[in-house]
Amino acid sequence: MSFLYKADPVRGAEWTRLFAAKAPDIPFHIWPETGSADDVRYLAAWVPPQDIAQRFPNLELFFSTGAGIDQFDLAALPPELPVVRMAEPGVVAGMVEYATMAVLALHRDLPTYIWQQRQANWAAHRVHPASKRRVSVLGLGVLGCAVLNQLRTLGFPLAGWSRTRREIEGVACYAGQAELPAMLTSTDILVCLLPLTQETRGILDSTLFQHLPRGASLVHVGRGAHLDHQALVDALEAGWLSGAVVDVTDPEPLPAGHPFWAHPKILLTPHIASMTQPETAVELVLDNIRRHEAGEPLIGLVDRTRGY
Ligand code: NAP
Ligand code: GLV
Repeated sequence: MSFLYKADPVRGAEWTRLFAAKAPDIPFHIWPETGSADDVRYLAAWVPPQDIAQRFPNLELFFSTGAGIDQFDLAALPPELPVVRMAEPGVVAGMVEYATMAVLALHRDLPTYIWQQRQANWAAHRVHPASKRRVSVLGLGVLGCAVLNQLRTLGFPLAGWSRTRREIEGVACYAGQAELPAMLTSTDILVCLLPLTQETRGILDSTLFQHLPRGASLVHVGRGAHLDHQALVDALEAGWLSGAVVDVTDPEPLPAGHPFWAHPKILLTPHIASMTQPETAVELVLDNIRRHEAGEPLIGLVDRTRGY
């Protein structure tokens, strides 16, 4: 029985050290070194190797090293293989930090002040209280809920949108396509924390932006393919949207000359909002292996029919 890791090799070295300390009975290999392929029971990867059923006939669990799973083709994996995503405390904490930073940056007009500084322009704009800035989150999952919990402490009026109906204290909850416009019309800062699926691809488009009130802004931390880049640029140029913090794009990295690089109303980061932390990820992986062996429910098990 062995564990195979196929992702960033620097973090892989940390996984090796953690496995040696916490699960010395499980032989650990870093791709492309696999040991005996017949022995591989557990595989963790950002993108799995092709033909995993043929290569690793005794594989029992596949772990995505990311919280998202759209970076690989779910349908290409053996249908009976459980796929577990990394909804681990480290990735959650990172997203709470980033989304809070981004919401506060837009709330306090940071893109404007960064631009003014470049122009040596000392100009103050009115400060609005958090209680007057309505923040809505697309996606009420592990990350969306954690972000809302933090934003609540800052006093923002909160709303959130999911596929199925949720109830979250202090959050106006909306569900399904039909209720989305009602939430958008009362949103000043919109945070996208959706998984990328056939239903959510391209959701951040000109139609969605038109439902937001004039002057609203966007924090995009979901996946690049949620966002229509040209629609965002058009909405910012028209003054309909006032600013955006964008962490994910399609493609990544953006090509030279792309309008996001130098846009005065966009703060751009290179998909770093949150990263899986080896210490907490290995804890979760080992807990899931124990659960798997005991026949208990797995934490972060992907629902193949929903696609997330
Ligand atoms: P999650 O726990 O699976 O939650 C997903 C949420 O989205 C759920 O509330 C779900 O609704 C909702 N949703 C899915 N499809 C929908 C649809 N068609 N309409 C309305 N709501 C829909 O996921 P998570 O752990 O919070 O992670 C969310 C995403 O964040 C990941 O998939 C990944 O793409 C992204 N992410 C980005 C970074 C980064 O660094 N930028 C890091 C980690 C993750 P239900 O509640 O009804 O199921
Ligand atoms: C990062 O984007 C992740 O999905 O964990």
